[in-house]
Amino acid sequence: MGQLIVLQHPLVDHHLSILRAKETPPPLFRQQIERLSMLLAYKVTESLPTADFPIQTPVAPLTTQRLAARIALVPILRAGLGLVDPLLNLLPDAEVWHLGMYRDEATAKPVEYYCKLPDDGATDIAIVLDPMLATGGSTRMAITTLKKWGVQDIRVFSVIAAQPGIDAVRSEFPDVSIYVCTVDPELNSHKFIVPGLGDAGDRIFNTQR
Ligand code: PRP
Repeated sequence: MGQLIVLQHPLVDHHLSILRAKETPPPLFRQQIERLSMLLAYKVTESLPTADFPIQTPVAPLTTQRLAARIALVPILRAGLGLVDPLLNLLPDAEVWHLGMYRDEATAKPVEYYCKLPDDGATDIAIVLDPMLATGGSTRMAITTLKKWGVQDIRVFSVIAAQPGIDAVRSEFPDVSIYVCTVDPELNSHKFIVPGLGDAGDRIFNTQR
């Protein structure tokens, strides 16, 4: 059974406040996304499997633990790209597989424009990266794609999520765990998260119009 894990920590509150603020410029917004991702990474990686790994310290032999799973980071373009570096810093051997999707402005439904997963076997674990989960449509499309690819353990990693989107993902995929820094209560008539932080992709890439 998948879980919903919402971070509760003073550092998360502090960095979310800066992230959400309208006047925060793109360079700082990107840094805040990275800071929050590092904090959330601690949680999403908490249950990764490890295996014995014998080493020799300068003083004595020792049986240590090393990660023992093939892990994919799966950013949803564009905004998910902002989450890749902080996670790769902690999981340098992870594979990165990109999924391209944008939300149609009229329907708020996701439209896929890039997906190129290899035929030779899925990873053991896939972590879907997207700073925003609004209606949950993009995340659900990504999970469907990864399940078809054959991933058994799929985790959703998002900075901010709306409750209706979380409910939609959990009801369709009860086995998938969702990791978020915070949950906002609702969506407005344009399916934007309220109070939210605006459009993460535009704020990361300085393409606000
Ligand atoms: C945003 C966001 C998610 C999606 C969330 O992307 O980054 O991918 O919308 O909405 P949903 O949960 O209702 O599907 P957007 O379409 O703005 O594309 P972008 O990342 O290229 O800016």
